[in-house]
Amino acid sequence: MSRQSLTTDLHSILNSFLDLIGCDGGSIYTLEKNLQGDDVLVFKAMITRSLGVEAVPTHLRSLVFRLDENSTVGRTGLNREVYNDSVISVQPTADGTVPRQRPRSAIDIAMGYETLNMLSAPLLTPRGDLVGVIQLVNKIPENMETEAVFGEKDERLCGIVSSQAALVIENSMLLVEQENILDGFVNACVTAIEARDPVTSGHSQRVCDLTLNLASAVNREQSGPLGLIHFSETQFRELRYAAMLHDIGKISVKEHILQKEKKLYPWELKEIEMRFKLMKSAYRLEFHGEENQLELGRRLKDLDQAYQTILKANEPTVLPQEVSENILELTKLQVKIDDGEVCCALHAHESQRLCIPRGSLSPEERIEIEKHVSFTYEILKMVPWSRGLEQVPTIAHRHHEKLDRTGYPLKVGGEDIPIQSRMLTIADIYDALTAKDRPYKAAVPLDKALEILESEVKQGKLDGVLFKLFVQSRAYLLTTRSETSGSPKKSGKAA
Ligand SMILES: [Fe+2]
Ligand SMILES: [Fe+2]
Repeated sequence: MSRQSLTTDLHSILNSFLDLIGCDGGSIYTLEKNLQGDDVLVFKAMITRSLGVEAVPTHLRSLVFRLDENSTVGRTGLNREVYNDSVISVQPTADGTVPRQRPRSAIDIAMGYETLNMLSAPLLTPRGDLVGVIQLVNKIPENMETEAVFGEKDERLCGIVSSQAALVIENSMLLVEQENILDGFVNACVTAIEARDPVTSGHSQRVCDLTLNLASAVNREQSGPLGLIHFSETQFRELRYAAMLHDIGKISVKEHILQKEKKLYPWELKEIEMRFKLMKSAYRLEFHGEENQLELGRRLKDLDQAYQTILKANEPTVLPQEVSENILELTKLQVKIDDGEVCCALHAHESQRLCIPRGSLSPEERIEIEKHVSFTYEILKMVPWSRGLEQVPTIAHRHHEKLDRTGYPLKVGGEDIPIQSRMLTIADIYDALTAKDRPYKAAVPLDKALEILESEVKQGKLDGVLFKLFVQSRAYLLTTRSETSGSPKKSGKAA
């Protein structure tokens, strides 16, 4: 059930009324709250058979009526009474024209229609709750002898079926409300995840938009391997929730790991900086006096160079071999600072960290961050997803799996990765590469990002057919984000 289903329900209810009462047209207004929290009746369904109108025209969709005496719709809702505006019989004149008995409503003028008579009834549930108003117009006479007006029989019939219709509408609206609550809850969850890692803020929404773009492109395919695949409205919702929540498991990853920008944490680098200051002081004490100034200068310069090497290695870019060798050498650099006490330039665990070949994460931290996928699954499994949305946890669970089984956490491949997850993976990697909001790395230009994705396709990791469609349909273009620019660099973190 969805907003679309509510529209369908209202349309079929209105059609039944038209058949039952025998009239040319009608409309339904549902009771909703406006932005100020006031009750208003919103124009939701319209049929005018003589004009071939089957839905509320676009220019009338914003029409709302307050519950007051200023309109027949509002009056019907306010007083919860049936209004039969057919008491004045309208007979054609000798020349065949129909004399005007009432001022033309705004809707009539907009539609080029003439409402000759009208039956307006409140839609009340058996509990007496108002859910809307139905209006029927232009009674069709049963035969040549009867008048074209709504009679008492019509009012009675309308009263009987309106409570049943009200129940159906109430149920439909409750389901739409449930959907709205779920949407709101999903958005709140995404806000909570991204509040912990403001650097990747907006990632979930962008990945969702990109994935749905690609799913729409799949639906447009008429032939080829994707020609037979069509995502229903409910499957789109399922995919939307899976994409929005794919990284919800990051909530369980320690914040300092999540936000780690360089190989060393800031406090670790500070500690090294203090040691270097201590070593310099020790040298100044040891090599005091005029005759030692040359040696002192040389030693201080060596320390400065060593510290610069550490800063260079600390960056999350690809580590050059010679920097890595220099870092290992620095573990041997020791300075005597006091009676026998020795200060080391770098401890083994620090040099290990600085020798991470690419990115900012150590193997242990990478494992910790990769756990977010399993947590995503565990969290999403706890949600009692309604019918049609059951696959949300599975789709999200496999967003880091690769077709060649080199992904994580399940290391599944091929057919074990649903097409929804494959689309999500492409969108996720693309956004991680092109995102402009990560201070630890520059955004990869669009063409370079597509090249990186293509190389993963060639390695058998990503779905080539979906990637081709991603490019051809330009599903990667988001209206809310301009195309990216910057130098190519690969993210060290899980997207
Ligand atoms: Fe992820
Ligand atoms: Fe992600």
